[in-house]
Amino acid sequence: MIGTARRRRDGDAKVRGATRYVGDMPAHGLLHARPVLAADAHARLLAIDTDAALAVPGVVAVLTHADLPLAGGSGRAAEPLAREEIVWAGQPVALVVAETEAAAGDAAALVDVDTEWLEPVLDLEAALADGAPAARLTERAGEDESAASAHGGSEGGTEAAGGGSPNVATRQRLQRGDVDAGLAAADHVVRGRFRTSWVHQAYLEPQSTLAWVDPDGTLVVHSSTQGAFMVRQGLASTFGLPMERVRVQAAPLGGAFGGKLMIAEPLAAAAALTLRRPVRIVFSRTEEFAAGNPAPGQLIDLELGAMRDGALAAIRGRVVGDRGGLGDMGVEALSTLLAAGPYRWPAHDLTAVGVTTNRVSPGAYRAPGAPPAAFAVETLLDELAQALDLDPIALRLKNVLVAGDRGLDGQEIKVIGARECLARLEKHPLYVKRDELPEGEGVGLALGFWPGGLEPAAAICKLDADGRLTVVTAAADMSGIENAFIAIAAAAFGLPEERVRVTTGDTGSAPYGGVAGGSKVTYTYGRAVERAAEQARERLLDVAASELEIAPEDLEVADGEVRPVGTPGRAIAIADLAAKVYTFGGRHRPIEGYGSTAQVSRAPGAAAHLSHVRVDRETGEIRLLAHVIAQDVGKALNPALVEGQMHGGTAQGIGWALLEELGHTDEGQLQGATFAEYAVPSTDQVPEIEALLVEVPAPDGPFGAKGVGEPPVCAVPAAIANAVAAAAEIRPGVLPMTSARVW
Ligand code: MOS
Repeated sequence: MIGTARRRRDGDAKVRGATRYVGDMPAHGLLHARPVLAADAHARLLAIDTDAALAVPGVVAVLTHADLPLAGGSGRAAEPLAREEIVWAGQPVALVVAETEAAAGDAAALVDVDTEWLEPVLDLEAALADGAPAARLTERAGEDESAASAHGGSEGGTEAAGGGSPNVATRQRLQRGDVDAGLAAADHVVRGRFRTSWVHQAYLEPQSTLAWVDPDGTLVVHSSTQGAFMVRQGLASTFGLPMERVRVQAAPLGGAFGGKLMIAEPLAAAAALTLRRPVRIVFSRTEEFAAGNPAPGQLIDLELGAMRDGALAAIRGRVVGDRGGLGDMGVEALSTLLAAGPYRWPAHDLTAVGVTTNRVSPGAYRAPGAPPAAFAVETLLDELAQALDLDPIALRLKNVLVAGDRGLDGQEIKVIGARECLARLEKHPLYVKRDELPEGEGVGLALGFWPGGLEPAAAICKLDADGRLTVVTAAADMSGIENAFIAIAAAAFGLPEERVRVTTGDTGSAPYGGVAGGSKVTYTYGRAVERAAEQARERLLDVAASELEIAPEDLEVADGEVRPVGTPGRAIAIADLAAKVYTFGGRHRPIEGYGSTAQVSRAPGAAAHLSHVRVDRETGEIRLLAHVIAQDVGKALNPALVEGQMHGGTAQGIGWALLEELGHTDEGQLQGATFAEYAVPSTDQVPEIEALLVEVPAPDGPFGAKGVGEPPVCAVPAAIANAVAAAAEIRPGVLPMTSARVW
């Protein structure tokens, strides 16, 4: 069961349209909500005229900030509708609730928002300038770094915000050793400035939430979310409700990639609490682009030095990340950590700066901050290899982190397969023949790295009366983790996979667990499932031992039965044992196990890429001809699904590299807020991806497995940029590398 390629269980239903998403769920007396989005990027909100909207047949209410039962606080979740200041074009300012989606949509267009224009701050460099206009005039109640840390970053020391700009929201510095001396002593120093664009997660299913209030006052929320408990805590705090009065069920996800960590929930919940009827909100595609929480634009300055033999000497840099107008979450701290790559540095000095602007408040997107960071550091390493006339893989092998090293955060790394990924590509034909390609073609190499998230995770495994094992966790199923949980529980308990079922993401029945994100679900929840199944198996053996009058250590579980080791004759079917347990007057305690992952170490993920491109010297078009990824996955529980993650991550990295950008007008209005205009890679633009599995077992992971979702995306733009440099002798410093920019 472990290590065999199998089809994804939820795959058929998803491709056939049979999956019931939140948008498909029935509810009695359902109302539909539609947000009214601000047109200005920065403005004072003077008045909202709802008369025309309320006159539309079927409209039940038009809610504004003053109508919501909010408990106070600041940030995106705490103020779901703009209060007195609009801080981005697309910020929800009102919510129309109607009997039909059509009525809500018609009425939303009739809501009249009166504003006083304020100068918007849209560009990161302009926002940082001395004397820049303030992107936000009203006071904020302090920063919340929890979203970033949930994704696995280390925070380092926080300094007071400074400089001559009113828009610097946060500043953090990671520093060790004498960087000035290191750079002065280096034989060669390379430096660069890198700009990356805002990129949307572009999941197919938009943000969707259905909320109602039960007769006992409990707020019940079904949502397309990655974190059931996260949403429960968030809603309890937004609306001042006791935690036991909020129940959240994470629904099937039609894609998330980090973007579904609480955007639509406060809107739907506010309406349900106010109107006491079930309310559903399903974002339109345009609302997604304008009012979602995409990956922010970044500005990275990096400088690094090395000795003639390739030994790295020191790195210095600054990562500026856009925090948008409400800025709950920034990715610049993580990005700063990742800008050093998975390498040993005798000295480093890296600063993260979070900047308030009049853009949407950003969120997480698959390896938050990593693709820009890897773009910067791997471009410079490529330049360094060229300047020192060193083999790019050899340069990296000389410096790469191995088990026992300490990362930038000072923590000892227990296991990391970066070296093995590089070694896997060293002999690859594409790498070997990279200098013999036709004119205009090039192969680029880059190494990506993800620290691996950690959050509490727990699981319950219980044998039910029908002889099946039920696995209960709070994990939202973002990427088919049901498949992994079933395989792990079946193997650890001793039942065939068909006799294991999984329930996920219900705060009403699951023990506490963190969000599905950070590449940690299989690693942490999976480990908890393994422990819970093992404990349940011990209980099963106790029951069987008492029934068979044989010591438990002389029994084994196999083929759906418990039998004495080596004597198959006297066996009891697990189903019969279950029937004996769950009967009135029975003498056995329930067969259940609990597992958690209180103490596991981080399992960083690494992936090395080779990208083969052709650059058209006439048009500047960059064409990907081939792509190879070698990723350390610990242990591939189901190689088909792991390869799927590698393909998907690579494809998204291709989007980062060549196509994707949430552009805006000079006034800050979003350009291209549909899939017709926002270009994600089409099959024509994604070459066949060769996925090479590297398995360096993670000691704390279930069966040696580790998280595989985020590592594959990290270094794709870097590999493509390095291939462009090899093909056309141009070093792109901007993502996406559109021909207009590169040429
Ligand atoms: Mo993610 S960006 O860890 O969901």
